Amino acid sequence: MRRLPPVLIDDGCSRELLSLIRTILAACKEISFRVGQGALSGVLGSTLDENIQGETQKKLDVLSNQLLKDILLESGYVKAIASEEEDYTVAGNPDAEYIVAFDPLDGSSNTDINSLVGTIFSIMKAPHGSDPADQTIFMQPGHQQVAAGYVLYGPCTTLALTIGKGTRIFTLDKTHGSFMLTEEFAKIPEDTKEFAINASNQRHWQPAMQNYVNDLLAGDTGPRGKNFNMRWIAAMVGDVHRVLCRGGLFTYPADTKDPNKPFKLRLLYEANPMAMLVEQAGGIAHTGEQRILDIDPQEIHQRVPVILGSKNEVEACLGYHK
Ligand code: F6P
Ligand code: MN
Repeated sequence: MRRLPPVLIDDGCSRELLSLIRTILAACKEISFRVGQGALSGVLGSTLDENIQGETQKKLDVLSNQLLKDILLESGYVKAIASEEEDYTVAGNPDAEYIVAFDPLDGSSNTDINSLVGTIFSIMKAPHGSDPADQTIFMQPGHQQVAAGYVLYGPCTTLALTIGKGTRIFTLDKTHGSFMLTEEFAKIPEDTKEFAINASNQRHWQPAMQNYVNDLLAGDTGPRGKNFNMRWIAAMVGDVHRVLCRGGLFTYPADTKDPNKPFKLRLLYEANPMAMLVEQAGGIAHTGEQRILDIDPQEIHQRVPVILGSKNEVEACLGYHK
C-alpha cells in the first residue's frame, strides 16, 4: 500500500505544494488525536464566544483553528490564510506562492455526541506580486483551486484529496502516523437512491426543491418510479464522504427561515473544495443556477446553495430548477 508523498510526486505535484499539503495534514493528525480523546482531553463543549458569522464556537473549533493557523503560518508555505473561525484573512509569508482557506472543524456540533467531524481545505495560488494582507487575493473562482481535500475524523481518520487529477482516498494508519492510499480513483456512481437534506427546513424551501423532494418521497408510485432513502449527518464532511464512497445527492438549498441568511454553506472553505473533490470523482456540484466552481466570490465568508453528488440525480434535481 502506498503512502501519501510518493503518490502525489507521481502526479507531478510540486515540491512546495506537497510540503504545504503535508503541513496541513500534520495539523490534522493532531486534531484527529484530540477529537479521539473526547472528554478525556477536556475540550468538549462550547466557548463563551461566537465567530463573525454569529455561530457559537466549540472549544474544538478554536483549538483546531489555532493548530492549523500556527502550523501554516510558521511553515512559510502560505502567503495568507482564510478560516471559518477568523473574522478576516491572516497574512503569512509575502514570498509564498499559495493561499489556503479552511474550515478547521466542520460539523463541530457533533463533537459532543461522538459523531462525525472533519477539516476541509482549499489551496489556491496567490496572484503574482500580491500583498499578503489583501483580502481580495482569495476572490478567485473555485476552478482555480490547485488542491482541495478534507480529513474526516470518524471510526477511522480518512483523507480525500485532489490536485486536479482525480480524487484519492487515504486512511490514517495510526500505528505509524502515515496516510495510506486506500482508494486510488474515487468514482461517484452516476445513479443513486439516496439523498441528504435537512428536511426540518422543508416549509422554508423554494418551490423547485419542494417539488423535487416531494417526488423523491413519493417513491415507486410517484413520478420518479423508485424508492429513495434519506440520510443526514449534520456535518457536510460526513455526508460528502458517503457520497464519494457510494453515491447520493447532498443538498443544503436556499431557504427563507432567516431572511438575512438565505444559504448555509460557505463558498471558499466548504462548497468550493467539496465541489472540486466531487467533480474530480465524476459527480456534479451546482447551486441550482450555476456550477459552484464558476462562482466569482465577493467576500471570504460568502454563503451559497449547494446541490452535489451523483451525476444523473443532480441533473434530475436541476431539472426542477429550470
Ligand atoms: O458547517 C455547516 C454545517 O455544519 C455543515 O457541516 C452541515 O452540513 C450543516 O451545517 C448542518 O446544518 P443543520 O444544522 O441545518 O443540520
Ligand atoms: Mn463547516
